[in-house]
Amino acid sequence: MSRLAVVILAAGQGTRMKSNLPKVLHPIAGRPMIQYMLDAVAKLAEDRPVLVVGHGDEAVRQTLGDAVTYVLQEQRLGTGHAVLQAREALAGRADTVLVLYGDMPLLSSETLRALVSAHDGQVAPITMLTCIHQQTMGFGRIVRDGAGHVVGIVEESQATPEQLTIKELNPGVYCFDAAWLWEHLPALPLSPKGEYYLTDLVGMAVDEGCSVEAIVVDDPLETLGVNERLHLAKVEAVVRQRVREELMRAGVTIIDPASTYIDATVAIGQDTIVYPNTHLQGATCIGVNSLIGPNTIVRGSTVGDNCRLEMSVVEDAIIEDDVSVGPFAHLRKGSHLAAGVHMGNFGEVKNSYLGPGVRMSHFSYVGDAEIGDDVNIGAGTVTCNYDGLDKHPTVIGEGAFIGSGTMLVAPVKVGARARIGAGAVVTHDVPPDSTAYGVPARVREEKAERTDSSREAPSGSCSGDRN
Ligand code: UD1
Ligand code: MG
Repeated sequence: MSRLAVVILAAGQGTRMKSNLPKVLHPIAGRPMIQYMLDAVAKLAEDRPVLVVGHGDEAVRQTLGDAVTYVLQEQRLGTGHAVLQAREALAGRADTVLVLYGDMPLLSSETLRALVSAHDGQVAPITMLTCIHQQTMGFGRIVRDGAGHVVGIVEESQATPEQLTIKELNPGVYCFDAAWLWEHLPALPLSPKGEYYLTDLVGMAVDEGCSVEAIVVDDPLETLGVNERLHLAKVEAVVRQRVREELMRAGVTIIDPASTYIDATVAIGQDTIVYPNTHLQGATCIGVNSLIGPNTIVRGSTVGDNCRLEMSVVEDAIIEDDVSVGPFAHLRKGSHLAAGVHMGNFGEVKNSYLGPGVRMSHFSYVGDAEIGDDVNIGAGTVTCNYDGLDKHPTVIGEGAFIGSGTMLVAPVKVGARARIGAGAVVTHDVPPDSTAYGVPARVREEKAERTDSSREAPSGSCSGDRN
């Protein structure tokens, strides 16, 4: 078995992208472009791939961490020069070097594997991938002789009118014999554009009497390269379609795939139905039998089984089983809705835990709060968590009943089973099992009443505080 090393070039500025973000970090279906390439090469070689970085290398390092070995190309002197930078890291450690460019996210591992095994089977110092495409996308053209042997790659900018009509293109994926590569790279001539072109190695090999082998990729879509934002959108569409198809095959119903945007990082359980115009983003995981959408955004959140999320926005939240949210609800960072919660229209929850069975049906804001089981939050209740300087917590005990239009001025605690009358402004803690109302809210003296008359629970005392 020959030892294989993988080198991915990603030092270029990506000028045609017109972006401050390094090209390989542009997201495609929620993941940086380079991640797709890393997935494709993941199982090919034992060692981590070498990533040649330059422009924006700090951001690239931050995103990828130690998933790759970095090699810095300080000056962008072309693709040949970029590969040469990896020589020190790899010379003597590999027999074959697979070189690919970081801007081709649709390449499959099967195609790369086929290339590597084609190379292993013969003596040519270079085995390359080619593609046949009517749209030439600025790619270099593959020049063959009368007998059909590859004799060179000519860059579009230097091609003759006749060469420009060639439809066999260079996607930029090559297997090199390592010793041959390291020996020949320093001898690359300077191109008219002032760069050392990796592609000129093909002509050099042929001039030396070596053969260059080429295998044509089956699906030319795989070689879509991203050089500008139009290409980015094309690749994005392909990846998203693949994501949806995979989910549908796994038992997810997507009513209208064309208007459903699901990141490659999202997991969805069987028999969940996704309605149109829904965006599922980031590290989102949705259980089985749930109904998501229409017009819903779920970002970086976990949603349980048998949930219903309708026309709502859910960000960095946890939703357990049997929860219904919306229409028009907003769950913000740190929201955790336990099983069976109902959160109705125009509600907002931030950084709060709502215990099992909590009902928060209309127009309420709950922030920085801890809410016990089966609490009823009346319409228009607000946790006033911000005093202009700091945020403060609200705690509501299990079974409490918060009347409509209550202002809970934090920090404040409402005890278990306490009842708050409609329109109260609660500025002090309310003990368990008590009743408070008014502005500011005062606790009703139930103990005295109870000693005077019966000890029955004051079940009718809040009859006006419906939600
Ligand atoms: C290159 C090929 C062209 C091929 C096309 C396929 C050369 C000379 N040309 O052209 O034949 O059809 O890719 O996409 O190789 N890079 C560096 N350092 C550099 C220059 C580039 O790391 O100094 C990296 C870039 O970040 C990019 C890759 O190499 O990932 C290719 O560079 P790019 O400028 O996109 O080359 P193309 O003009 O597309
Ligand atoms: Mg390119």
